[in-house]
Amino acid sequence: MRRVRASAPGKVILLGEHFVVKGSRALVASIDLRATVEVEPRSSWPSLIVSEGLGASAALDEGLRVRGDPRLEPIAAVLEWLAGQGYSLAPFKARIGGSLPPGAGLGSSAAVGAAFALAYTALHGDPLGPEGLMEASLAGERVVHGNPSGVDPAIAAYGGFLLYRRGEAPRRLDLSLPEGYVVVVADSGIPRRTGDVVSFVLERAEATRPASDLVYRAADELVGAAVEALRAGDAARLGALMDLAHGLLAGLGASSEALERLVHRARGAGALGAKLTGAGWGGSIIALAPEGLALRVCSSLEEAGARWARPVKLGVEGARLEA
Ligand code: MEV
Repeated sequence: MRRVRASAPGKVILLGEHFVVKGSRALVASIDLRATVEVEPRSSWPSLIVSEGLGASAALDEGLRVRGDPRLEPIAAVLEWLAGQGYSLAPFKARIGGSLPPGAGLGSSAAVGAAFALAYTALHGDPLGPEGLMEASLAGERVVHGNPSGVDPAIAAYGGFLLYRRGEAPRRLDLSLPEGYVVVVADSGIPRRTGDVVSFVLERAEATRPASDLVYRAADELVGAAVEALRAGDAARLGALMDLAHGLLAGLGASSEALERLVHRARGAGALGAKLTGAGWGGSIIALAPEGLALRVCSSLEEAGARWARPVKLGVEGARLEA
């Protein structure tokens, strides 16, 4: 029986999370942690979905109703989007796995959506390209939280480095980190619902207008400046911009005591800059570290309570079929 496997990368938002929800730009890079989805046909409904990372399973009937773990509902939304594009709905079994941890602020739900859409459409003989994968994954993200900017689906589909503005086609940038520097990710291990943090930050922004409008403009400027710093290979400037971006996010209420501890610990261990990445409250932080200090930064972060910390490779390939 035919079986198709696809994968899509997770991401770190280098700068611009939350601000991107209201139209500022975000700079985002794919990372070398991937979600994989294997899809094979089943002879009859219901379809079955199993997620190793979530330890969850669900059955999906022909009307795309999910029985089982509600965290798998985004898959039904992706299928509904595919049906709207003319793909036939046929029963399947899907197994979700890979190295990208769920709930760490690293874009796992969008990566799973893109990888599932690619595997399913390839199984049906007409694999979607990145534009379609981004839209399919976005349909799933709308279930995860009500107001997704689309930045996570974009990077899962395209990979690389992207400059992203809501409602516009993502701009692919040919960037790399300054020579001799790495980005370290540390997962706080603290779960949170992206939608809750997004609503809280939006309320804070609304309550502090028009001053907060300037903060959103500043966040957009920081993104432009970070792109320039990367182009110039200026690690010190990039680090300072990350610290400043973190301050703006913390000011709008996206940080937490645990994330502050991690960010300060990373800086103390030699990182040139550190900030929360993704929605905040829990999830992960990123730090820009000289290669020679990366291990020290990682062990300091684990001592400070991170579930894990490791350097990641940035700018890897987007959603792809696996052999
Ligand atoms: C989540 O990875 C990024 C947020 O800006 C939400 C979004 O853009 O959809 C917090």
